[in-house]
Amino acid sequence: MSHEHRHNGYAISDDPARLDVGAVHAFLRRSYWAEGIPYETVARAVKHSLCFGAYTTDGIQVGFARVVSDYATYSWLADVYVLEEHRGRGLSKALMRAVLSHPRLQGLRRFQLGTRDAHGLYAQFGFKPPLFPDRFMEIHDPDVYKRAERDS
Ligand SMILES: CC(C)(COP(=O)(O)OP(=O)(O)OC[C@H]1O[C@@H](n2cnc3c(N)ncnc32)[C@H](O)[C@@H]1OP(=O)(O)O)[C@@H](O)C(=O)NCCC(=O)NCCS
Repeated sequence: MSHEHRHNGYAISDDPARLDVGAVHAFLRRSYWAEGIPYETVARAVKHSLCFGAYTTDGIQVGFARVVSDYATYSWLADVYVLEEHRGRGLSKALMRAVLSHPRLQGLRRFQLGTRDAHGLYAQFGFKPPLFPDRFMEIHDPDVYKRAERDS
């Protein structure tokens, strides 16, 4: 069963059938965090995530958010964007409300994300810098998509 919210004439939906993966890829391949990401990588990520789209009344997708989760203890929020012409209308906040109120994402022990400059957005929804950053580790390969492009 899909869930839909309305905001300022836009629809926020978790229905995978409504997603425009081509549009998501077109944005992400130019983003600072996923520059050059291959289409197949986006398609696979979308398929295995809980995705939220923001749509105009014509069904055009203008915003996106993706959640990677075990639906019990943990979630990771990724790839949040709103197309430039639709910014400043509260759409990212509507996406965040849809994410955080989603029935499959309740009762989690930890919800994490990474951001370069949108801390002020996420702070409005309770996200804080990790209290003990020294307890977290990661494997980060920022050039992985560039290598994939070069090798293809
Ligand atoms: C960030 C982004 C999703 C915001 O979308 P939006 O629909 O225009 O944002 P909203 O209208 O819902 O408002 C966002 C709120 O967060 C705040 N904010 C904090 N940091 C921000 C940032 N870097 N960019 C935009 N808003 C920011 C705004 O001031 C606003 O708060 P307010 O309404 O209380 O004044 C959009 O600018 C975007 O797609 N940017 C490029 C991609 C990106 O950086 N995504 C985030 C990756 S972590």
